[in-house]
Amino acid sequence: MTDALLAPAPMETPSGLVAFADETWTADPKELQTYFQAEAVPWTADRTLEQWRRLLACSRLLTARLVPEGGRGGRLVGTTRVWSDHAYEAKLYDVVTASDLHHHGVASALVRWALRHPWVGEVQRFVLETRDAVDLYPRFGFQRAEAMDTIHMRVLVKDLKQKGLR
Ligand SMILES: CC(C)(COP(=O)(O)OP(=O)(O)OC[C@H]1O[C@@H](n2cnc3c(N)ncnc32)[C@H](O)[C@@H]1OP(=O)(O)O)[C@@H](O)C(=O)NCCC(=O)NCCS
Repeated sequence: MTDALLAPAPMETPSGLVAFADETWTADPKELQTYFQAEAVPWTADRTLEQWRRLLACSRLLTARLVPEGGRGGRLVGTTRVWSDHAYEAKLYDVVTASDLHHHGVASALVRWALRHPWVGEVQRFVLETRDAVDLYPRFGFQRAEAMDTIHMRVLVKDLKQKGLR
């Protein structure tokens, strides 16, 4: 089965028809950078085109676009990126919907697709970090790590450097 067959069906929104695609191999890093800057997404503010290229090489980029009259393509209005180690854990990143299309189910459709995307493989769990969109994820079964009796730990590379560990 191809990714195209597995993509969510196009969705009607007040702004028009939104279609979904796996753009991992066709994405234009410049367009992604412009989209994330326009949406003022804080965690991508310093992301360079070279970093976008590296991210696309090791994860899958699922997108939503407003379909122009009678054609493919159109304005980017949603993204989700999924990474996987294909055995244990997968992680969702860059879940962003264009501000004028919020609350129409675009992010939910992309997240649902990422959760069942065959590239992810047989993992045991999906994880993600979020600052404020906390109400989006419980509908898919996500729980805060504390509720599962685990402690989420991380270290910033700048702190590792300060300790001479990198
Ligand atoms: C969070 C975001 C991706 C949701 O996109 P969307 O396409 O509007 O999402 P959906 O329509 O599928 O679902 C909307 C639901 O998400 C939840 N949600 C959205 N924004 C939220 C916020 N700031 N705080 C808490 N919950 C939020 C709500 O439950 C909302 O339900 P409602 O429409 O009934 O109010 C979008 O608001 C966005 O791009 N925000 C900026 C970037 C961001 O914070 N991304 C999340 C990173 S993990």
